[in-house]
Amino acid sequence: MAHYEHLRCEIDSGIALLVIDRAEKLNALNAAAVDSLGRFFADAAKDDRIRAVIVTGAGEKSFVAGADIGEVSDFDALEGRAWGLRGQSVLRCIELMEKPVIAAINGYALGGGLELAMACHIRIASSRARLGQPELRLGIVPGFGGTQRLPRLVGKGRALMILLTGAPVGADDALAMGLVDRVVEPHSLLEEAKALASRILRNGPLAISLTLQAVNRGLEMPLAEALDWEVSQYALSCATEDVREGTRAFLEKRRPKFRGR
Ligand code: COA
Repeated sequence: MAHYEHLRCEIDSGIALLVIDRAEKLNALNAAAVDSLGRFFADAAKDDRIRAVIVTGAGEKSFVAGADIGEVSDFDALEGRAWGLRGQSVLRCIELMEKPVIAAINGYALGGGLELAMACHIRIASSRARLGQPELRLGIVPGFGGTQRLPRLVGKGRALMILLTGAPVGADDALAMGLVDRVVEPHSLLEEAKALASRILRNGPLAISLTLQAVNRGLEMPLAEALDWEVSQYALSCATEDVREGTRAFLEKRRPKFRGR
């Protein structure tokens, strides 16, 4: 596997555990880390050994504490625009990934860290996690999708509360508002994330990918168009060997052996 600066990755049973590793800076994303994330996900999309990705942060304290403030503090408008576009395109690539991506939020998910987690398909948080968009405290606007994905996930009022105050929310509040999907004890976070990924991977691989496309693209369309899109994904799934195997296995009362065809 290629080398990705500030990232560590191990693959086991089709699940890539991706660790953002700048613990001394609470895993803040500098330009090198953002580029590495972009390269990793572009490679992972094509790598048959990887069928799901879990993203987490190194150490016990932080998932990602945002963009590296030291690197962004002197940006002029053009540099800021380029940085925002770069981050957005990396997170968009994660969001549109056709393999499940799970954020295992082990601590602070602030600014770009929360934006990264929100681009993932499912979020599991440690009970110690703190999530927020503190950019306004620094006098800047979130630029990696926070003003758009946050209201889509939790609604406009709650999103504006988080954005305008800059105050982080704890894991239980995040769960109650739908910002995370499950909260677990810190010591079982990775185990739970892996169990969830394994459970997903028991299903038909093409159906997983078509469903991710149906939801991710469909949510950006008007309902009538999205329903057409769903039908086309459904029709494609009808043409796979996997659907024959899945339905036959059910009728024969055995576990299916999907081949992703
Ligand atoms: N960018 C750059 N460095 C960061 C960072 C960031 N976003 N977040 C933390 N760090 C660095 C700190 O500067 C410190 O480095 P140092 O040891 O060289 O001084 C180290 O990580 C540890 O952070 P520290 O602030 O000492 O830890 P803490 O436990 O007291 O506080 C936080 C933790 C997360 C509350 C605090 O670090 C923080 O507010 N970080 C910034 C969050 C933010 O505004 N993110 C959005 C950026 S756009």
